[in-house]
Amino acid sequence: MLIAANWKMSKGPGETRDFCAAFRPPDGVEAVLCPPYVSLATAVESAHTVFAQNVHWAAEGAYTGEISAPMLQELGVAGAIVGHSERRQYFGETDETVARRTAAALEHGLRVIACVGESLEERESGQMQLVLGVQVEALADAAGPHERLVIAYEPVWAIGTGKTATPEQAHEAHAFIKKLLDVPVLYGGSVKPENAVELLSQGEVDGALVGGASLEVESFTAICQTAASL
Ligand code: PGA
Repeated sequence: MLIAANWKMSKGPGETRDFCAAFRPPDGVEAVLCPPYVSLATAVESAHTVFAQNVHWAAEGAYTGEISAPMLQELGVAGAIVGHSERRQYFGETDETVARRTAAALEHGLRVIACVGESLEERESGQMQLVLGVQVEALADAAGPHERLVIAYEPVWAIGTGKTATPEQAHEAHAFIKKLLDVPVLYGGSVKPENAVELLSQGEVDGALVGGASLEVESFTAICQTAASL
């Protein structure tokens, strides 16, 4: 199983150094840390597996504020999250830009966690499969079932809200995604030590993308230990 810590806009180099020094991932699970850009070098030095939170599709050029896959590789970063719902919601990320970022990152040898997920409104109006279908097809067209590609199913209504999908809802969404694109699928959205067993023990769930509960070494380690025990 893969358990990824998405720190979002938390932890500068100092806090990153402290976390990395205290964090001991258990055997039997792959733990990935995703700090903000300014903390990537510090995290890489600690010898943990490190992903960025985004990556641009061009190798270099006039794209102020962006970071490319070759730059991440030079730093020793192993992969990137792409298409997180906060990027889609606040920064104009679209299925097309997510697909371009994913394809470029894979081409340059990075691993990718590509995020998909429906909003509450979309779920309640019966459009979950339609929305997921469009998002996943964009990835399938851009990358296919690439060996370095992982999808994170993150229902938008469960992110940072304390609400989680039920194990059945997660199972249903993961199975649907895998039919369209056969890659491992992580669950994300308010994963915590208290709900990790029921979510991670679902057959189609191959790991987790953890936000809030990844900020403390103790709670992130507890989730990793749960994953290792399954
Ligand atoms: P959360 O965030 O665990 O705080 O809900 C998950 C994510 O956004 O990846």
